[in-house]
Amino acid sequence: MREFIVRARKAPVDADKFLAAVGSGAHVEYLAQMIVNALFIAKGHRRDTTLTLVLEDSADYSRALIMQGSSLGSLSGMNESALLNTCATALRAGRRLGKETSLVCDDGIVVTAISFEHLVKEKALHQEVYMLDVKGVDIRDTFISDNAVFLLTDHIPMPKKTFNSLARQGVMKLSLGPVMLHASQCISVIHNELDRLGC
Ligand SMILES: C[S@@+](CC[C@H](N)C(=O)[O-])C[C@H]1O[C@@H](n2cnc3c(N)ncnc32)[C@H](O)[C@@H]1O
Repeated sequence: MREFIVRARKAPVDADKFLAAVGSGAHVEYLAQMIVNALFIAKGHRRDTTLTLVLEDSADYSRALIMQGSSLGSLSGMNESALLNTCATALRAGRRLGKETSLVCDDGIVVTAISFEHLVKEKALHQEVYMLDVKGVDIRDTFISDNAVFLLTDHIPMPKKTFNSLARQGVMKLSLGPVMLHASQCISVIHNELDRLGC
């Protein structure tokens, strides 16, 4: 299993505000690129991959949109607008969720009202967790287990104090090379590195 968790600090949980943040502010269009690179391959979905988008601009709780390649139904399209509308539909369905409760949408997307920190804390108990960072250990110089979790931010950097707290849970920094990439590009590079190793 491969798992990517993206922290989108300015991405609105309100579905209408989410759709209005295309091309400005939170730039949620990046999230559509992440969905494509994480879950889609030429002939279907990556069944071994889970992508979780944690949207944090909320009046109550953050919302995690969890998309599993193995259970994702047919989304309404692969273009940016269709994918963002799919996210907005999931957010609308999950607008009344209580703290740490979940629901499953018709297309297989799970919506959970949970914070990034809480989600990662749970993962770190059972899985190796890596935070992507150009200053981390090179992915080619370390053994990556086959159920690793990779943490990314969107275009807004992870606050330093967040990493200090993650480090105490055993989260390690992982680099994909010296060039600062977009998060969606990082996902493709990680897939490629692991595909080549046969993980
Ligand atoms: C566009 S970057 C974030 C850029 C942000 N403005 C900054 O200065 O940190 C999005 C995500 O990709 C990760 N990233 C980008 N290039 C990377 C690389 N070469 N190695 C590891 N992580 C990388 C960043 O750590 C971040 O999680």
